[in-house]
Amino acid sequence: MSNSGETELIHMFKGIPFTTRSSPELLKSLDAFDAREDDVLLVSYPKSGTHWLAGVITKLYDTQVTITSPIEFGDISKLEELNNLSSKRIIPTHLDYNMLPPNFKNKNCKMIYISRNPKDTAVSMYHYYRDNPNLPTVDTWTAFFDLFLKGNVVCGSWFDHFLSWEKHEDDKNVLFLFYEDMKKDLPNVVKKIALFLNLNVSDKDIQDISTKSSFSEMKNDTEKENSDPSHTVCSLTSNRKLIFRKGAVGDWKNHFTPKQNRRFDEIFNEKMKLSKM
Ligand code: A3P
Repeated sequence: MSNSGETELIHMFKGIPFTTRSSPELLKSLDAFDAREDDVLLVSYPKSGTHWLAGVITKLYDTQVTITSPIEFGDISKLEELNNLSSKRIIPTHLDYNMLPPNFKNKNCKMIYISRNPKDTAVSMYHYYRDNPNLPTVDTWTAFFDLFLKGNVVCGSWFDHFLSWEKHEDDKNVLFLFYEDMKKDLPNVVKKIALFLNLNVSDKDIQDISTKSSFSEMKNDTEKENSDPSHTVCSLTSNRKLIFRKGAVGDWKNHFTPKQNRRFDEIFNEKMKLSKM
């Protein structure tokens, strides 16, 4: 990470690196956020398939819903902006469970957590760092690999994020999803989401939604539209064109050296000792 980039673009809040697109004032005030019972949270560590999931969810509703920008994105005026929304709110966030505004927990709001093989997540994030002017410069994959394993990247350690949410995997109001399952059988996952959200959707609709949510369809849609600054569900960019890169499972094999793979596995096994993953 280049030093000048790091100091200008990143600040620490409760030990976690955030970009300056999340103001410290907003982060401090999140605990006071007023959730509504029918809010749905769309939660992820960056680069886990958040936009894909958001694309599916918006297509599932035939009533008016608003996918907001991420709750941690912006300045202090964010809370009022969300308060003023009259429609049902789907609220994305990259916050770990411990940092989530307590009101979402007290009101049992539905939360959908999407996770992805951390090796592919690391590779996806590396490319994002390279292409995204809101993130510090990284010189090489080797340098980024070290930062990722140390949790010295935006949103902190993948392991801490995953583990904080995995503890709540069996909570009734939490649905845990995996990117790889969406790749394998999207209609099945779409059905699961519909059931969780109590939405009545026909098999034909599920097929249609799955077709329209393929990587190529979503990428094409994004290329066609004019860049809409309020249109990402990632607090790290407003440019949707940066999101749709490759959309594949196993791209890590094109980046990891055998030594890096062994090191990653060692750390994974150690950190995830108590995980069911
Ligand atoms: P890659 O960089 O590996 O291509 P997020 O939305 O959380 O930022 O995640 C972005 C990752 O999800 C990118 O991964 C992107 O290509 C992938 N993605 C987005 N839409 C997808 C889709 N419809 N199908 C498969 N992967 C998708």
